[in-house]
Amino acid sequence: MRPAERVEMSSLNQGRPARHSCVVGLQWGDEGKGKIVDVLTADADVVVRYQGGANAGHTVQVEDQEYIFHLIPSGILKKDTACVIGNGVVIDPRALIAELDGLLEMGLDHEENILISDRAHVVLPYHSALDEAKESAGGDGKIGTTLRGIGPCYTDKASRVGIRMSEFVDPNGLRERLVHLGELKNRELEKLHGRDPIDPDVVFEEYSAYAERLRSRVCDATAFLHEQDARGAGILFEGAQGAMLDIDMGTYPYVTSSNTSFLGLGPGTGFSARKVGKVFGITKAYATRVGEGPFPSEMQEEAAASLREVGGEFGATTGRPRRCGWLDIVALRRAIQFGDVDAMVVTKLDVLDHLEEIKVAVSYKVDGAETDQYPASTECEVIPQYRSFPGWLESTTECRAFEDLPEKAREYLRFVADAAGCPIAIVSVGKERSQIVSLDPWLEPTPVEGD
Ligand code: IMP
Repeated sequence: MRPAERVEMSSLNQGRPARHSCVVGLQWGDEGKGKIVDVLTADADVVVRYQGGANAGHTVQVEDQEYIFHLIPSGILKKDTACVIGNGVVIDPRALIAELDGLLEMGLDHEENILISDRAHVVLPYHSALDEAKESAGGDGKIGTTLRGIGPCYTDKASRVGIRMSEFVDPNGLRERLVHLGELKNRELEKLHGRDPIDPDVVFEEYSAYAERLRSRVCDATAFLHEQDARGAGILFEGAQGAMLDIDMGTYPYVTSSNTSFLGLGPGTGFSARKVGKVFGITKAYATRVGEGPFPSEMQEEAAASLREVGGEFGATTGRPRRCGWLDIVALRRAIQFGDVDAMVVTKLDVLDHLEEIKVAVSYKVDGAETDQYPASTECEVIPQYRSFPGWLESTTECRAFEDLPEKAREYLRFVADAAGCPIAIVSVGKERSQIVSLDPWLEPTPVEGD
């Protein structure tokens, strides 16, 4: 099924030598991580998701076939790669099974490759119903979530009332557990939100069948990762969403409910982040965001509409049109710092090919004062200060080496590496797996005097 095509990626071996690596988004999600993970997977024995849930949507294009993954690590496309769903992920069994069935329909019978942490929490219909009820209450509380029950499930985890995979697939007592949680959640649904209760017996009917199907895939994933490490395997950790949606470091409260950055890796797997030698941070050559919340470099709707069209900027999970903006160096630099990023991958450079002028937010005026730091408050007035670049006005989609890129595009990338203070390892110039400019050596930031 999967074409044997292999993309040469010597740039991945630059920087610190590393057997294990991690890929994270540096913006508000949708940076194009799926494609990069897919390429990096070529050398990985194990691919791991460590946070988030079916709110994620990772699109991978292989020739004419488009695959969209929500819960399953993108490594599933490779026949002999173990795909681990870590304890930090919240798993909606209905969504997971729909995804497995979708893969089967496409001829990918790789279910045996999936390992699910026995400590991962389960997303149930109560969670999605509460997500929907809270969001539709409107007012200041609206986050613009994906309505996949992510926040309510993580809430139950932190409140210590959630159901974990080990309990979910244990036929003894599943009904009692569902009834107990159902009582708690129905109280919330009815009393706080005026919604109809959900019958736990109906949930049991449907979900016990899912438990049956998933049982053989549930294991001690932490032990598995340590065994793999001991036998010399290479592990790739795949972050979902983006750093600015990180619950601690992002634009709180307009964030998701997990640590989307490299910071989530340790707690989300039980595998020490110290063992992970290299972190690749993915950023688009511009910026997008879905849902509510601050987006300082957001464009006027007319310009955004054109970029949205060219870049296909519609949510892979919800289909919502994405808000579009210019690359924001203030947010990017911060994400690189707290995510300990070794090198960036700049995606969708080709989407800028048609623009006469390209802008980059280089600093902010926050309540009138100039700063290059991202503010904690979402209440203050943030006015981005832009630097403008002339567009290159030619296609980059056929470029496969840095020298092939138009000089103005190279200037733009040099500026991004300098301003972000981080090398660029790869530039992506189209949807196809082969539309990649691999930089060997990496495009390093110009050393600052005194370095
Ligand atoms: P939740 O994760 O569904 O609770 O949504 C919280 C915020 O994160 C909302 O602004 C969502 O639009 C955003 N979000 C969640 N998952 C993704 C994603 O995979 N890509 C982009 N935004 C996301």
